[in-house]
Amino acid sequence: MLATCTLGLSTMALAEAPDAVLPAYVCVGCHGTNGNSNGPAIPTLAGASRDYIIEVMEGFKSGERVSTIMGRIAKGYSKEEIERIADFFSRQAFVPARGQRSDPKLAGEGARLHEQYCEKCHAKGGTSPENDAGILTGQWTPYLRYTLADMLADRSRMPKKMKKRLQKLHRKAGDAGIGQLLNYYARGKLRGVDP
Ligand code: HEC
Ligand code: HEC
Repeated sequence: MLATCTLGLSTMALAEAPDAVLPAYVCVGCHGTNGNSNGPAIPTLAGASRDYIIEVMEGFKSGERVSTIMGRIAKGYSKEEIERIADFFSRQAFVPARGQRSDPKLAGEGARLHEQYCEKCHAKGGTSPENDAGILTGQWTPYLRYTLADMLADRSRMPKKMKKRLQKLHRKAGDAGIGQLLNYYARGKLRGVDP
């Protein structure tokens, strides 16, 4: 068991169906134990919805979602393997990124922007995986920053309705508004993070 733990899967995870867990070995090498990332440029996968993970992997495969390495990695997996891996990560508990700083004043401004432009899909203050929209609160800030920049610059695909709202927010509040949002998503005390 000791050796498997160092590979980034908890004993509990290993008690699951092995055909779901085994393909995930490669992923946890970068994405952290059970998909909770330790590195600011690599996103946490744990707790995201199954369909979200599948959709993002398909985006990487087709190139619609830009990536440094995920495009190449995603191409190595069949649809069925991706479904099993997505199943696995969606059932792991999300652990918020540790030690991130957030300015309470900026986070307060960000809360208002989030409520107006993003809450409809990124529910419960960005803590919820519902709507297959991805968990934003507690995700690594540097990762969110460059993902949003890629989306705003049209280098990377995002859902049509999200695009409208994100562009509107950016027109009205500028880069400062994006910074406020990021402070909100990095806020310390997370209320109601869904398991
Ligand atoms: C070599 C390190 C590495 C490995 C191995 C790896 N990833 Fe990634 N992953 C990344 C990086 C870095 C990103 C950010 C996108 C990019 O630049 O490629 C990412 C992004 C993602 C995202 C986007 C998450 C989000 O919320 O936007 C998903 C989903 C993902 N990876 C799934 C997987 C799965 C599933 C596997 C295993 C089959 C895997 N990754 C293996 C490094 C890795
Ligand atoms: C109409 C629903 C909708 C709205 C509104 C919306 N989003 Fe999204 N968002 C999604 C969905 C669905 C995804 C995942 C699918 C994808 O990435 O292709 C997503 C993905 C994201 C991602 C990528 C997450 C990751 O880990 O890679 C970020 C960042 C994000 N949204 C931020 C925002 C922000 C900020 C706002 C408000 C300005 C917003 N979204 C508004 C539906 C929405």
